[in-house]
This record gives sequence, C-alpha cells and structure tokens, in this order.
Amino acid sequence: MTVKAIQSDVITDIQKGEIPVHVAVIMDGNGRWAQERGMPRVFGHQQGAESVREIVETAAKLGVKILTLFAFSDENWGRPKMEVKALMKLLDTYVLQERAKLKKENVRFQAIGALDQLPEKTLAAVLRTQQELSHCTGLTLNIALSYGGRNEILTACKKLAKKAQAGIISPQDITPQIFEEHLWTSGLPDPDLLIRTSGEQRISNFLLWQIAYTELWFTPVYWPEFRKEHFYEGIKAFQSRKRRYGLLAET
Ligand code: FPP
Repeated sequence: MTVKAIQSDVITDIQKGEIPVHVAVIMDGNGRWAQERGMPRVFGHQQGAESVREIVETAAKLGVKILTLFAFSDENWGRPKMEVKALMKLLDTYVLQERAKLKKENVRFQAIGALDQLPEKTLAAVLRTQQELSHCTGLTLNIALSYGGRNEILTACKKLAKKAQAGIISPQDITPQIFEEHLWTSGLPDPDLLIRTSGEQRISNFLLWQIAYTELWFTPVYWPEFRKEHFYEGIKAFQSRKRRYGLLAET
C-alpha cells in the first residue's frame, strides 16, 4: 500500500465520524521549539508557517469548513521590533505566495482583528488576498491578526452603543444574535473545536465570546512540529466527546 493510499484510508476513517465545522487553533511554541535547537525564535516562526501550509491542506481534505488560526495577538506588538517585523514579513510572504494555490484549492481567505494596526504593506496584501478569494466556496481560512478577544467584545459594544445613541437600535433589542453580528467573526459559526499546541492550557484572549461551548484540546507538540497526524488526533478527540450544551444527555 502506498503512503498516499494509507493517508486516504485514515481520512475516510475519520470522515465516518462527525467532522467539526469550525476548528480554531492557538499556534503556540514557535519560540521554544527554535530556542531548544539553539536557533533564533524567528526560525521557529518560519517553520510554523510550514505547519500552517500542511494544516490548511489537511483541514480542507477532511471537510472542515472554517479554520481560524491565531497568528498574531494584540499583545504581540510588545515583542522585540525584529521579531514583529519578521512575523509581518512571514505573513506578507504567506499571503502572496499561497494566494494562487489557495485559489486553486477553492479556499476562501479572511482576516479578523484590529487590522488597521497592521503595517500598510501587510494590510494591503491581506485585503487583496481576501478580495481575490472571496468567491471561493471550500474551506474558509480565517486568520486572526492583531487580535484580542476583549478588544473584539469592546469594539462590538462601542458599535452598538453608537447605534443606540443614534436611535438606530434600542438597548432591549440587543440579543446574543445581534451582538454576534457586531463581532469580527460576524457570519461565522462558533468553533466546535479549539486546539492549542505547546502544552500550555489557557485561552490567552482568543475568541472569548465564541468558545462558550467549544471543545478544547491541548497537545504538548510545539506548533513547528504539528503535522497532519496531530490534527487527526485532535479531530478524533473531538469525536470522542459528548456535547450537551447545558442540556441532559440523550438516553
Ligand atoms: C506563538 O509562538 C506563535 C506566534 C506568536 C506566531 C504564529 C505565527 C506563525 C505560525 C507563522 C506565520 C503565520 C502564518 C499564518 C503564515 P510563540 O512565539 O509565542 O512561542 P513560545 O511560546 O514558545 O515563545
């Protein structure tokens, strides 16, 4: 049996179970991975971009509809200038180099976060890719950039407060659904599964509103080493969970 055939068997097997519609990932451990190898942190980010390529491809093959990747937090601006610059460059390169491939694979691309904080060049590359792939109907690759969950919630509150002040909406009309329409993730369903790599077991200000009922899966694997086999493992863990959304289990 060829490697490709074995791989396709694994995929068919996983597809017998429920495939999460939306998977979110906190890609952590790039710096530690590099430092443990006596390399600069930036090397870890470069290898991390390879993992992004493999996981986007794997998610699409499995039939995941939305993949949200935490690529840069609003706190990450406080890292050394050189690291921030390198991360922005990696993003520029990724969106420019992958655009044609993503288009061919019918991947829709979108970015969420305080995008106005991005350097002009990065923002232009992100927006152009978003626009060019907007008609694609396969996997949605949603990249969180300059993202913070609290900032997202505050931004939504401000938008709603302005509307209330202008008499466009009444405070009593603000339902969870209306609130969600004002988040950066508007239009996307909540994640079914959240993966965090590198052994840390916290949320770090990611999708705070959206993960109310999300299944969490933590793996000790550093992001630069995260490969399709690890992604399969996460999906299988999800398939073994029983989601009750605060209700009783069916008998
Ligand atoms: C966390 O590791 C990772 C980041 C802050 C950046 C994630 C970026 C990439 C994976 C590469 C580029 C992204 C795309 C979409 C092409 P860390 O640096 O906090 O690691 P540490 O906790 O070990 O220090």
